[in-house]
Amino acid sequence: MVELAPSILSADFAHLADAVQAAERGGGTLIHVDVMDGHFVPNITLGPPVVRSLRQATRLPLDCHLMIENPDAFIPDFAEAGADWISVHWEACRHLHRTLQLIAHHGARPAVVINPATPVDFLMDVLPMVHHVLVMSVNPGFGAQEFIPFSLDKIRRLRTLREELGLHYRIEVDGGVAHETIAQVVQAGADLLVAGNAVFGTGRAEENCQSLLRAARIAAGEMQPA
Ligand code: DX5
Ligand code: ZN
Repeated sequence: MVELAPSILSADFAHLADAVQAAERGGGTLIHVDVMDGHFVPNITLGPPVVRSLRQATRLPLDCHLMIENPDAFIPDFAEAGADWISVHWEACRHLHRTLQLIAHHGARPAVVINPATPVDFLMDVLPMVHHVLVMSVNPGFGAQEFIPFSLDKIRRLRTLREELGLHYRIEVDGGVAHETIAQVVQAGADLLVAGNAVFGTGRAEENCQSLLRAARIAAGEMQPA
């Protein structure tokens, strides 16, 4: 089943509870939370106190994407604040295996993220321990960037590897997922679809979620075109 993870990065930060509730009404089944530290990426967003407030605003799992240096120092706080899923960047972890263990130790689902310039094959040895792999289809830091087409090859590679290795990790894609790109991403094999600008950028978030999900489900063969 494909799932939509609306990213609150493009929502109005003064009204996050309204944003997550609209996303939920529209069929979003996860809330994607982008954490940026101004070091790993050239932007700053939010930390554990905001995750704690979001936890009160929705029952959907909080999918926390840490774009931060030294994530080990903050994982306990994010988990304690209510992060259900925690993903860390391959590029930010000197001891990735240890970091993934730390996430699981704190009761969250561990995941690894790769930037556009990082090959999927660098993940071979940790694939058995992750809940999902997040493929960045833009360089992280900002919403509303253009989808990088070669990300589709990485999604296909992850799908093939999953089959070959008999694993069950899910494949998430983040960046530039919109009406124009969502079908290709699903056909390549992604089943967790992050969308920020396409949900919260213009128009009504609830309706944007519904139409993105409809396009994704049709591309996945889960729904017939009307
Ligand atoms: C980018 C973030 C994304 C961002 C995606 O660094 O990780 O989650 O919100 O935004 P869109 O969907 O606008 O490309
Ligand atoms: Zn993200």
